[in-house]
Amino acid sequence: MKKQFLALAMAAMMAASLAGCSSKPAETKAPETAAETQEAAGETTEAADESAEETKEEAAAGGVLVMGTNAEFPPYEFYEDNDIVGIDVEIAKAIAEKMGMELQIEDMAFDAIIPAVTSGKADFGAAGMTVTEERQRSVEFTDTYANSNQVAIVKEDSDIAGSADLEGKTIGVQLGTTGDALATELKDATVERYNKGLEAVQSLTQGKIDAVVIDQATAQAFVKKTEGIKILEEKMSEEEYAIAIKKGNTDLVEKMNAAIAELKSEGKIDEIVAKYMDAE
Ligand code: ARG
Repeated sequence: MKKQFLALAMAAMMAASLAGCSSKPAETKAPETAAETQEAAGETTEAADESAEETKEEAAAGGVLVMGTNAEFPPYEFYEDNDIVGIDVEIAKAIAEKMGMELQIEDMAFDAIIPAVTSGKADFGAAGMTVTEERQRSVEFTDTYANSNQVAIVKEDSDIAGSADLEGKTIGVQLGTTGDALATELKDATVERYNKGLEAVQSLTQGKIDAVVIDQATAQAFVKKTEGIKILEEKMSEEEYAIAIKKGNTDLVEKMNAAIAELKSEGKIDEIVAKYMDAE
């Protein structure tokens, strides 16, 4: 009798603790198991579906660094099947590894990245993000890890030969980017703002707009996959990419800068860039 009671009591306890686990995964389980629980709960991709609450709980547990990005920007960040890959992803992984932390990626609209960083929804933003004075008013930037230029993509038979010819034209850009700012300053130009750079390129091939202004490496990636368009030689700007961090979080800026410096001296950044540029 006594034995039976004990067995029942144990079964009840186990059931209770199991129930406890599944309702509060982040408090009671290691991150790996918590991720499995999220999957079981019907979340489809690691990138898009994790709630801000889970993000905070996991960060509180210690080991997770949340990256905000916009995975519409090859070769820096893009989808390969269901995974977000690219230069920024690999650099961020290498930084997190040096910091002894696990990287978690949150995909969002490009213009949502800085708000995510300032609100703490993401620990940092890495998205081929150009350092600008305006952005420096709302976030800190790490040391830079890449250079870039804005370029214009036009149809192969276009009579647009340089940025002077863009005046008065209809120009497609990705919303909130430096390409957007640059096109907005062109005289008499009409700026069409798209959520994704690729949508602007599609509009161009459909003849709805005259040009797309976008970062050079991304322009090359798009042009390579699209018939009938070309990149103008003229570089419309000189830019540098860095990681955005919440203002005042100097601890994280210093740690990431130290990791970036190590990665540079190890030749790791060049290696990652070469891997993705060659793959194009
Ligand atoms: N370099 C440009 C900027 O900072 C474009 C970046 C777009 N990045 C992206 N992941 N969509 O505004």
